Amino acid sequence: MKSREIRQSFLDFFAGKDHKIVRSAPVIPADDPTLLFTNAGMNQFKDVFLGKGTRPYLRAADTQKCIRASGKHNDLEDVGRDTYHHTFFEMLGNWSFGDYYKKEAITWAWELLTSVWKLPKERLYVTVYQDDDESFMIWQEDTDIPNDHILRFGEKDNFWEMGETGPCGPCSEIHIDLTEDGSGKELVNVGDYRVIELWNLVFIQYNRQGDGRLEPLPQKHVDTGMGFERVAAVMQGKSSNYDTDVFTPLFDRITELTGVSYKASMDDPCDIAMRVIADHARTLTFALADGAMPSNEGRGYVLRRILRRALRYSRTLGCSEPLLHQLVGTLALSMGDVFPELQKQQETVSRIIRSEEESFLATLDRGIEIFNEVIASAKAAGLRAITGDDAFRLYDTFGFPLDLTRLMASEAGFGVDEEGFEHCMQEQKSRARQDRKDKQHLQDEDGEWRWFSLERASVFTGYDSLEEVSSITGVSVSPDRIFVVLDRTPFYAESGGQSGDRGWIETAEYRLKVSDTRKDGDAVVHVVTEALDTVRDSAIDPADVSFDAGKLACRASVDRHNRQDAERNHTATHLLHAALRRILGQHVQQKGSFVSAERLRFDFSHFAKLTGEELLAVEAEVNEQIRSAEPVLKHQDIPYDEAIGKGALAFFGDKYADRVRVVEIPGLSIELCGGTHVDSIGQIGLFKIVSESSVASGVRRIEALTGKAAEQLMWKEYRELQDIRHMLKLKADEAVMGKVAELAESRKELEKQLQEYRSAAFSATLQQSFEAAETVGGIRLLMLRIDPVDTETLRQAVLALRERHPASVGLICSEEGGKVSLAAFSGQQAISGFGLDASKLVREAAKAVQGGGGGKPEFATAGGKEPAGIENAFDIFAGLVKEKITAD
Ligand code: ALA
Repeated sequence: MKSREIRQSFLDFFAGKDHKIVRSAPVIPADDPTLLFTNAGMNQFKDVFLGKGTRPYLRAADTQKCIRASGKHNDLEDVGRDTYHHTFFEMLGNWSFGDYYKKEAITWAWELLTSVWKLPKERLYVTVYQDDDESFMIWQEDTDIPNDHILRFGEKDNFWEMGETGPCGPCSEIHIDLTEDGSGKELVNVGDYRVIELWNLVFIQYNRQGDGRLEPLPQKHVDTGMGFERVAAVMQGKSSNYDTDVFTPLFDRITELTGVSYKASMDDPCDIAMRVIADHARTLTFALADGAMPSNEGRGYVLRRILRRALRYSRTLGCSEPLLHQLVGTLALSMGDVFPELQKQQETVSRIIRSEEESFLATLDRGIEIFNEVIASAKAAGLRAITGDDAFRLYDTFGFPLDLTRLMASEAGFGVDEEGFEHCMQEQKSRARQDRKDKQHLQDEDGEWRWFSLERASVFTGYDSLEEVSSITGVSVSPDRIFVVLDRTPFYAESGGQSGDRGWIETAEYRLKVSDTRKDGDAVVHVVTEALDTVRDSAIDPADVSFDAGKLACRASVDRHNRQDAERNHTATHLLHAALRRILGQHVQQKGSFVSAERLRFDFSHFAKLTGEELLAVEAEVNEQIRSAEPVLKHQDIPYDEAIGKGALAFFGDKYADRVRVVEIPGLSIELCGGTHVDSIGQIGLFKIVSESSVASGVRRIEALTGKAAEQLMWKEYRELQDIRHMLKLKADEAVMGKVAELAESRKELEKQLQEYRSAAFSATLQQSFEAAETVGGIRLLMLRIDPVDTETLRQAVLALRERHPASVGLICSEEGGKVSLAAFSGQQAISGFGLDASKLVREAAKAVQGGGGGKPEFATAGGKEPAGIENAFDIFAGLVKEKITAD
């Protein structure tokens, strides 16, 4: 079977068992701060397992794009060295949400593998968690697996956890023995490529807490995951995942680009390199197609490291040019039918990868230089290993992954102090952890927050109404805020880049001011920051508000103006998106957005700064459309495929349900969107771009205002211009720009004249003082303290004086704000007759003002910081001059 047939046959099998076939979630989790990348099929259902969210089905199956290159599940170091690890892979999975449990999960898995796919039973081994007698019995009694193929293992192998916290439970795994003679029993779970895990059936029943405790979940669930590339290898009779049709197109392309062909050997350095490059190209392509960007922190940093690691392996193939971006098209071609985002994003992804490759290739060479220095100094110091600090510096500053440093060091006959490296790494990690902690979401700041999740979900009514009689179903009080959950609420909770509503919740006793609205699972949480006791008519501290237990009736009212302003901005964002695509091109994709009542921000893919004309064109087009006052149609609940079929734009990186909401402005824009919008685009009033900038390579940001905020800005600018006209006493038809340019020009002219005047005045003073100065041995000795004058004026005047009077020498001092400036000169006769060197003289004199300087024998300057020493400086200067003259 071809790999695409295997994938389909898995989905068909579970569709036949009443499973809803769902789409893969993006590899970049949209709303889970505990996870950098989607690392298992169950991630998108985490809220269901935890009892926070629901789905309109109880059984589901899919193929999920996964990345395991960080955190608890990290296969990065194994990639390339064996035949079955990947940083990117597809996980075929089936799920039960509180529906079927162990028996069905186990017997169906067995049925698919042995009856449908006809894998040899005697080659399969299953493992169960040591205490899980129930699964053991099911395998024994409800399947025909040989009894001695059911093995028990401990927590390490048979208790699956999503991450440090989150859903978890005992699991049962199915392994296949690929040894030649079928003697692999002892190799189960020892990490041998000949006996590998194919499918993991997890029985989710706990939530691992931050403090390590296991908290039982309200319901039990099934979560399974099968490695698609592994099963493809087994089904295609290959001994390596890399020998299947999943990878051959990539290897063919690499061969085309480098001239090196793949020999399918485990240890050959070129083969290892090709496996690494193929794997990493998949990870990068899928992650970037889902909206990730390489960067210096978090997931972006993991991607950057993966890219660099792949690039160093490309050197093994004798390639020093950017290579990875040339594999993006191959992937789009071979997998784009299953994952259309690869095709849609192909150009953007390839350009981002290319620019990352180019910048690392520059760093790589600098890093190699530093590496050579490190080796030389280690040699000189008689060390046998590179220090942890140096390895970390190479890693952190030059982007060298540890294995690159390790490899290069061993080639030079050195080791690496990995413990020291790890120590530096831990320090950096703990800094990053602290950082993440500081940034975490509302729900972690408050110990009681999670309590809401167990409350029932809130019904959002705010698409149609801004006021609702409702009841309070959950309250949590923290020192300065109250979190309130309502049964039904018109408040929009922050999501999809639209800020949460503000407004009021009133009960018989209190008027609560809601300053923000957030989501926690299916609950809408109103954040209250001010409270009024309406019985006593006095403000009270939110912490002192007390509610009776049970349901409490209330009236919830959204701040209408605030909401409408946000809606203006949101609808304008859709118009902006469409206008950018029309004016700049269809490569423009939304990369992020944020709309609040105050303003809108829209990030999109585009490779150059927008010109003034482009910005003007975009703004003019949006305003033209606003004047058309088209209606905004909101299609509440239509099938995802139908929406996409109508041409609706989806935001890459967002997770969409099967039924979606579509916001359409006929003929102008159509997007999947859950946000709130004006009814007619005419209500936006006015659209004004206020800035255009770069957020990352290939991503631009536009910020803009609408409605009243735009009007106020235009009005303020207009008034300022009026004030300027008034001040300049312009006539009605006179242009401001012409007048301002004229003023600037005449100011320049005046400054020039002033400078000339100052110079002349200064020269005259200088000349007068010179004439009054004493003469020693035929040389005129000028010592003059002046008010500060600019350096150029001083220099020119002094040089002119010196020219006129060859038999002269002098020191000129000034002081300003505690800083002393000295300038010394020496005429031609003073130099040739007495060896009076202005530069030496000024240096000596400057010592008296705690300073230094220098220049030429003719003219030299110095600075100092001790004004009290100026007289002394003159004395030193005069002393030296006299000494020289009398000595001769
Ligand atoms: N969530 C399970 C795994 O990733 C199926 O192995």
